Amino acid sequence: MNPQTELLERAKSVLQKNLRNGFTIPRDKLYPFQWNWDSGFVSIGFANYDIDAAINEINSLLSGQWENGMIPHIIFHSETENTYFPNWDFWDTTVNAGASQKPKTSGISQPPVLGFVLENLLQKHPDNPKVIDFVKYAFPKIVQYHNFWYQYRDAKKEGLVFIYHPWESGRDNSPIWDDALNLIDLKNADLPKYTRQDTKISDAKERPTTRQYDEYVYLLELGKRHQYDGKGIAEESEFLIQDSLINAVLIRSNEALINIGNRFGFDTKKVEEWQQQSIRMFNEKLWNEDLATYTGYDLRQEKAFPYWEIGGLTALFANIPNAHQAKKMKAYLNNLIQNNFLIVPSFDVNHPLYDSKRYWRGPIWPQMNWMIYHGLKQYQFENEATAVKDNFLELVQKFGFHEYFEAQRHLVETTNGGYGGDNFSWTASSVIDLILNP
Ligand code: DGY
Repeated sequence: MNPQTELLERAKSVLQKNLRNGFTIPRDKLYPFQWNWDSGFVSIGFANYDIDAAINEINSLLSGQWENGMIPHIIFHSETENTYFPNWDFWDTTVNAGASQKPKTSGISQPPVLGFVLENLLQKHPDNPKVIDFVKYAFPKIVQYHNFWYQYRDAKKEGLVFIYHPWESGRDNSPIWDDALNLIDLKNADLPKYTRQDTKISDAKERPTTRQYDEYVYLLELGKRHQYDGKGIAEESEFLIQDSLINAVLIRSNEALINIGNRFGFDTKKVEEWQQQSIRMFNEKLWNEDLATYTGYDLRQEKAFPYWEIGGLTALFANIPNAHQAKKMKAYLNNLIQNNFLIVPSFDVNHPLYDSKRYWRGPIWPQMNWMIYHGLKQYQFENEATAVKDNFLELVQKFGFHEYFEAQRHLVETTNGGYGGDNFSWTASSVIDLILNP
């Protein structure tokens, strides 16, 4: 069997292993439920060879949607599974009358990938009646989800939504959050007692620190006090960020909803209004010419982040940069390649806070490479797109289906550069989609 065919078969068996009743877990024990953006990427993988599984994946996520439109970051399809913290009882979403209770869920969201995931399914099967019916069914629910972001998370009504928990960003312990998290007065926080589960399963050196977990629990409790929505969060939270990735993904998904709407004659006026304002503000407020990327904006401290990190690159995927900006972003990647890095590391490799092993403080992430690959292709940056894809496939080939990977070439060649959980679903689905759609 040729190596790519073999990799493809292994990827499919990872998804098969993680498949549960109508949804796929990211990885057993470490993440034993359904995660929002993980499932989006899983659906993209399945769409290549199993339409039912691709549809079920999205449908299972929609089953946890709240009345206010939020699609939570975790859907706890099982109430007895106990290898994960914080579990459904710790979230206690009964504080919000419109929260889903069957299934139980968390109280925050994640990068809103579902719009472009739905479009991807339709593009792969444009004439399949089952797909068309499902797209028509899911479309208004995803519009309602975007409405949640613009209604509850755009405090200034400027078209850029905020997050109040690092878990919402998907990039839990990125150094970009450090300054904001340092505002939290943990000594006087009176945190509830809790026990981490993740470090029993994964190497503690590759996971967030104890202090960071205290901060995560603190912000969870803050959200709970404010019914996980409402003005109170924007008024009280020390952590209040207009994140580059969240907003770029929302913009990319808005575009997908507009495209779907145009095909079926749905009313997309509201989405188009959001989209215009969001793209304009993203460019005006988040571009940093010196860093050659977009950065997040800290609403509490009224300042832009002073760091290069991977979230900004997803703007390419959302078609936001002009030719000049896109070229600068590409040059940054070439510089990394020349300096013997596999791309794309998640944080500035020259910064003292870069940590090549620890979760979002340096490693390469599969789903990020998937989005950046498509972004670079949109701008016809073929060489860089190929590098993003080939580097990722090389890492999986060498180390297996890990959650994240080493970026320094000399370490990739001499040590085990596969980090976090193994047999990871979005690694498998990214492999499948990249191999089958050259
Ligand atoms: C975790 O538990 O590590 C997740 O990233 C939060 O959802």
